[in-house]
Amino acid sequence: MIKKTILITGGAGFIGSNFVRNICVRTDVKKEFDFFIIDSLTYAGNYFSIEDVVNKNKNLSFEQIDLRHSERVMSFLKSLNFCGVIHFAAESHVDRSISGPDIFVETNVLGTINLLKVSLEKFKTNPQFLYLQISTDEVYGSLGANDPAFTERHVLKPNSPYSSSKASADLFVRSYYKTYGLPVLITRCSNNYGPYQHPEKLIPLMIENAKSDKKLPVYGKGENVRDWIYVDDHNDAVWEVFTKGKIGEVYNIGGESEQVNLDVVKMIIKKLGKNESLINYVTDRLGHDLRYAMDITKIKKELGWRPKKTFEAGLDQTIDWYIKNSMWSKKVLERANYTNSTN
Ligand SMILES: NC(=O)c1ccc[n+]([C@@H]2O[C@H](COP(=O)([O-])OP(=O)(O)OC[C@H]3O[C@@H](n4cnc5c(N)ncnc54)[C@H](O)[C@@H]3O)[C@@H](O)[C@H]2O)c1
Repeated sequence: MIKKTILITGGAGFIGSNFVRNICVRTDVKKEFDFFIIDSLTYAGNYFSIEDVVNKNKNLSFEQIDLRHSERVMSFLKSLNFCGVIHFAAESHVDRSISGPDIFVETNVLGTINLLKVSLEKFKTNPQFLYLQISTDEVYGSLGANDPAFTERHVLKPNSPYSSSKASADLFVRSYYKTYGLPVLITRCSNNYGPYQHPEKLIPLMIENAKSDKKLPVYGKGENVRDWIYVDDHNDAVWEVFTKGKIGEVYNIGGESEQVNLDVVKMIIKKLGKNESLINYVTDRLGHDLRYAMDITKIKKELGWRPKKTFEAGLDQTIDWYIKNSMWSKKVLERANYTNSTN
């Protein structure tokens, strides 16, 4: 059987590295697919998150590529034979987008356009070509406490520079479908947590700080609500959509597990046997979205996917991982101190 090669972007980041570790090397997937992983290795991308698995598996290859560099991307990717893309790469931290939005436009919008252009070239010689855009619930904006969850028909109303850049990318993906007929799919997922997440994000930050009795910074009153999903559940859904999704469609993905931020912080404190006096309420994030919640009826009905892990079980597993892998967090933070996104 001739194997198909899929391009994975952002494979050294949080969700991408879990995808590489858990989906790309699954026995059934390995039989049929090779994966070419690209990542520019910003402060958020660490090759050591996937190095062992890339070295061990012949169906995986890696190259350091920056999607912002259109000429290099075009010439390198044109020479590569692949029949699909799963596009995880992005600048992903809302706080960083508030202090410096430019790179979010460069990577999330222009980088996506560069990838769409190459994909269109590939599609011209291979009608089976498929492009999957990994997007976020944040493109829909914010919900009030009693509003129904976002469906795929919800109007895009992004509020932060990060979510605006992701919404723009989604619209360009749609335009490549409508204008050029490029076969595309878009997934929009809620907040992920799990191993290999950068310690600047809520759950790993709280775990790392609580472990060493440092203050736990909580925005405002900690009343913001997020719909949490374990990263493996997200990646299972991504693979279902990539292999079975209907071309041109958007699929919401979520954990059906809404949690108030303060409750999440308190659960981490309890599990680590620490004291709630570590909580430090800090000035709220500018334009902080109050609540996200995903209606996942469509993916359940059409593809039969549903999240498997409860928040309690996933959080326990994540805390255990960060306890056992403190060297990983140390290396990530050391790198982040001298690497920044503009590299
Ligand atoms: N983390 C979440 O909760 C969440 C939820 C929904 C959707 N998403 C989306 O999933 C995707 C992955 O998110 P994540 O949390 O793993 O992010 P991440 O920041 O951990 O990883 C992003 C990866 O992209 C790479 N990258 C950044 N700029 C690049 C460029 N110019 N060229 C090539 N590679 C580049 C980084 O080096 C990094 O490895 C993003 O598109 C994000 O918007 C994330």
